[in-house]
Amino acid sequence: MSLEKLMMKHERLVMVNDIHVPFHDELTLESVKHGLKYMKPDRLILGGDIIDFYSISHFDKDPSRALNLEGEIEATQTVLEELVSVLPKSCKVSYLLGNHEERLQKYVHNNAPELHWVDGLKWNQMLGLHDLGIHPVNKRWMEYKGVMYSHLNRANKYGGYTAKNLGTDFNRTIVHTHTHKTGHVRHGDLHFYDNGCLCDLQPEYMSGSGPSVWSQAFMVVDYVGKQPHFTQIPIEDHNYTFDGRLFTPNGIGKLTKKK
Ligand SMILES: [Fe+2]
Ligand SMILES: [Fe+2]
Repeated sequence: MSLEKLMMKHERLVMVNDIHVPFHDELTLESVKHGLKYMKPDRLILGGDIIDFYSISHFDKDPSRALNLEGEIEATQTVLEELVSVLPKSCKVSYLLGNHEERLQKYVHNNAPELHWVDGLKWNQMLGLHDLGIHPVNKRWMEYKGVMYSHLNRANKYGGYTAKNLGTDFNRTIVHTHTHKTGHVRHGDLHFYDNGCLCDLQPEYMSGSGPSVWSQAFMVVDYVGKQPHFTQIPIEDHNYTFDGRLFTPNGIGKLTKKK
């Protein structure tokens, strides 16, 4: 195939995950929005745990946090709107179910099981995804062009290990979310990525657990024909580099060499 034809078949997918509104990192999200606008993805996968659903969690909550479900949903919708607003109109957006989105389903099952069938109580309806043009994926993983994108309930100690274990179980290339850790293991043609997070690295509910071992990152996959090319973007102190540029909460700067 000629180089020209290969270029024509190029398709860009971006995956962002574990934003955990209202425990999101606002500055990091600003940098990511600048990146999304610049990268012009054809597809965006929201990889689960976009909303925390802290207000309906069964874990003990800090009573000083005046959080309510309505406020949490509104804050999440604002984040979703802002993310969608910087994408090309033709970009297809999918939203993968995370364990935090599942909190809503569990809450309804535990507190009002008779209402489990009410569509308006489903996570995708409550977040108004249809109106935002976001396609909900009602399971914890999806596949696109031979790559598995997952938010499964598995988390190992080190970045890359969880994806490696899942990827070898399923014998396929995987970009895994959920662990909030970042790492890459390669085995032959297979790639296994843990894809970090975009939330606050030290949220107040984690204050007793010592220094954070989480890290922020997101994924860019350029499919040239059927071949995926992965660029995982580690975020350091809200900033990252891509394509010779520095992306910051305040905008994009071109990197130039010191003379
Ligand atoms: Fe998460
Ligand atoms: Fe998760």
